[in-house]
Amino acid sequence: MDAGDGVRAGGGSLHMSGGSASGSLHMSGGSASGGSAARTEATRPHDWDADAYADLPLPHADWGERALGRLGLQGGETVLELGCGPGRDTARLLQRLPTGRVIALDGSAAMLGRARRRCAGDPRVSWVHADLRSPLPLAPDSVDAVFSVATLHWVPDHARLFAEMVRALRPGGRLSLEYGGAGNVATVVTALRALGREPAEWVFASPAGEKPALLAAGFTDVECRLRHVAVPMDADVLVRYLAGVVLVAQLEGASEAERADLAPAVAERMARRVVDYVRLEVTAGRAL
Ligand SMILES: C[S@@+](CC[C@H](N)C(=O)[O-])C[C@H]1O[C@@H](n2cnc3c(N)ncnc32)[C@H](O)[C@@H]1O
Repeated sequence: MDAGDGVRAGGGSLHMSGGSASGSLHMSGGSASGGSAARTEATRPHDWDADAYADLPLPHADWGERALGRLGLQGGETVLELGCGPGRDTARLLQRLPTGRVIALDGSAAMLGRARRRCAGDPRVSWVHADLRSPLPLAPDSVDAVFSVATLHWVPDHARLFAEMVRALRPGGRLSLEYGGAGNVATVVTALRALGREPAEWVFASPAGEKPALLAAGFTDVECRLRHVAVPMDADVLVRYLAGVVLVAQLEGASEAERADLAPAVAERMARRVVDYVRLEVTAGRAL
């Protein structure tokens, strides 16, 4: 099953199987259901082992809770979630939106499939399979809030994505983002380089770069801060964690031998069994 089933391009609109969003979302150059002309095999986002990811003890759960708290939802909003992954925060958003709805977007069919199962056919969600490096497949002024956890560091051009967020948000709409910031997972990067490998195409941005970019895109009340989060792990969890979360890009397309060897080799090279996260937390509003 394609995880984007039920959300498809049709006459310029997206339709969802649950019905509530039918006809209310409008395509603008992108596509849902994995069929975008802009999403070629060569450039598609990485796919993830959604089950392995969701089974890990993820500090992302706490990061998501913090980002949700900063959004200040009233309960009736339409929230666009960018990089919904296996749907942990999609489910939390739904709990906080008794009369609202969620548009949950991800570039991984496996992640979307897991998220759909988690939300068990809730008609208040529209699932969108799309690449954040392409224009957002949403009409202007169509959402009240944008929310994202642990995703933007996978997207190279933040200025362009911020402009897309402004376009999708209604005037006065809010955003709450969190993602890897300057210095994120530095010990993993050092270990990779010691093994002769370059880190993935991550963009670990700093407030000094992101704040002007958000203001230039049209946001106001911009707050950006870095937060250091050291996550100690048992040896076996660290290896599973590296393989299933941090080294996803390095392992894509790798041979079976490489897949088996890389995460233990990186773990071995790390001075301590601690993942040294640096998170960038961002809140802002679209000017009225
Ligand atoms: C580390 S996971 C975070 C998932 C979830 N938000 C969480 O906190 O657990 C990153 C997510 O971003 C998605 N992603 C990465 N690059 C993307 C892109 N270019 N377009 C769409 N989704 C992307 C991945 O598929 C993945 O689900």
